[in-house]
Amino acid sequence: MDKRIVILISGRGSNMEAIVQRCAEQRWPAQVVAVIANKASAGGLGFAAGQGISTAVVEHKAHPSREAFDAELARVIDGFQPDLVVLAGFMRILGAAFVQRYEGRMINIHPSLLPAFPGLHTHRRALQAGCKAVGATVHLVTAELDHGPIVMQSVVPVRPGDDEHTLAARVLATEHVIYPLSVRWFVEGKLAIEDGLVRQTDGASQVLM
Ligand code: GRF
Repeated sequence: MDKRIVILISGRGSNMEAIVQRCAEQRWPAQVVAVIANKASAGGLGFAAGQGISTAVVEHKAHPSREAFDAELARVIDGFQPDLVVLAGFMRILGAAFVQRYEGRMINIHPSLLPAFPGLHTHRRALQAGCKAVGATVHLVTAELDHGPIVMQSVVPVRPGDDEHTLAARVLATEHVIYPLSVRWFVEGKLAIEDGLVRQTDGASQVLM
C-alpha cells in the first residue's frame, strides 16, 4: 500500500512542490495526501490545491499557547493518517510532545551543513564566519531544534561576491534534489538507523557535491 505523506509548509513551498512532482514522475510507492500550513497566506497552498491535494490551515495565531497549537496541528495531521510528516520550510518550533508523537516518521530540511548554523539566517552567518562551503541537511526530527540523525547533505561552494541571496539560491537548488531523494528513500524503506545514525541501505551516496 502507498505510504501516506503529509507536508507542512509556511511559505512558498518550493521543496513541497519538488517532492510532489518527483513522487508522481518517479512513481514512488507513496502519495502526498495533504499539505498543511500555519498561515492561510502560504503561497504553496495554491500549488497543492491545483494538484488535487487536500490542504488545511492551522493558524498558530488562533491558538493561545504552543501546546494548544501543537495539539490542534496533530489532530489535523492525524486525520490524514500519515506514514511520514515532512517539514518543508515550516517556520514554527514544535514542542517535545509533538515531536515525540511523530518520532522516526518526521523529517526536516535545514539550509546549512548541520550541526553548523541551526536556527535562522544561516547563509548570512556562514558568510560572516568566512565559510568556503555551505549546504543543506535533511534530518530526522528530534526535540532539539535543527538537530537529529542526518539523512543527506548537499555541499555548495561559496564564491567571491556571494551575498546571502545568491548563496540561498544556490543551496535551494540542491534542496530540491536532496529532499525528494531523501523522502523517496524513506517511503521505499531504504533508511536504517543504527546507533543514532542514518544509513542508506543500498549504499547510495548520502552527500551531493
Ligand atoms: C528552505 O531553504 C528550507 O531549507 C528552509 O526554508 C526554506 C523553505 O523554502 N527550512 P520553500 O518554502 O520550500 O520554498
